Amino acid sequence: MEIKKLGIIGFGQMGAGIAQVFAQSGYEVVGVDINEALMTKGLKGIEKRLAGRVEKGKMTPEEKEAVMARIKTSTNIEDLKDCDLIEEAVPEDLELKKKIFSELDRICKPETIFGSNTSGLSITDMAVATKRQDKVMGMHFHNPAPVMQLLELVKTIMTGEETIETVKKWGATLGKTVVVAPDVGGFIVTRLFTPFLLGAIRMLEAGIATRDEIDVSMKLAVNHPMGPLEVVDFIGLDTELSIAESLYEETKDPKYAPPLLLKKMVTAGWLGRKTGKGFYEYK
Ligand SMILES: NC(=O)c1ccc[n+]([C@@H]2O[C@H](COP(=O)([O-])OP(=O)(O)OC[C@H]3O[C@@H](n4cnc5c(N)ncnc54)[C@H](O)[C@@H]3O)[C@@H](O)[C@H]2O)c1
Repeated sequence: MEIKKLGIIGFGQMGAGIAQVFAQSGYEVVGVDINEALMTKGLKGIEKRLAGRVEKGKMTPEEKEAVMARIKTSTNIEDLKDCDLIEEAVPEDLELKKKIFSELDRICKPETIFGSNTSGLSITDMAVATKRQDKVMGMHFHNPAPVMQLLELVKTIMTGEETIETVKKWGATLGKTVVVAPDVGGFIVTRLFTPFLLGAIRMLEAGIATRDEIDVSMKLAVNHPMGPLEVVDFIGLDTELSIAESLYEETKDPKYAPPLLLKKMVTAGWLGRKTGKGFYEYK
């Protein structure tokens, strides 16, 4: 099947970035979110990033307008009905994602392929919420989606070969490098990276080093562009907690157990950049 029209459900931090990737690659995009204000914020973010590209001479003002014109937004899930591929980027909550997929399954044509941007939840569980289990895959974009080069695809034991081949080819049209991972908790990236991030929180919690000592050390010693605590602020502490909880539940491996400090900060509403406060403060 030829993929022409794309849908995104959940137009938050990741959804808006992914919409930009899709539209910049020439696709028509429909973005759906239940929160109109967040959708407006997402569109403004896209506009700002594209304006930055125009300023740097990487894009003409006309190209910027054409990209913006390819993105339509709506609060009505029914507006996704004629999309060829839909990427879900709602919060990291398996029950919510299953509900979304079951609703999309009812609305969309039978050929539509469904993708999930989950950081590590079970794609198999999402697929069985639909009647098109061969057409559901993980399609894990990384943050910020317009910048990060990797597209981590996740196949379940039910994903059809035709779906995998179609999605791999489509991923290349987005200018991304595609890897295919099996449906195990956290896939490749989150499974490896999460113990490192949680370890940094535990180190802070135990008083072994300060926030700045941890972040500066990892930036200067390992050449990471951001320290681990900056990264957790960037991801969102709520998202990081959900990731840790689901990985711990699946593996029972203590390296995935969420640190108490992370839980307390989420309870306090300190979710990182998106709320203006996490391990750092943001204006
Ligand atoms: N933040 C990251 O660094 C990162 C990186 C890779 C993958 N992810 C994954 O991407 C997904 C989204 O994460 P995010 O950081 O963009 O979260 P976010 O909280 O910024 O955005 C989620 C959006 O979903 C919307 N939403 C909630 N319920 C909805 C519903 N029923 N219908 C439509 N929209 C709904 C919210 O209004 C919000 O705008 C998660 O699964 C997360 O694990 C996040």
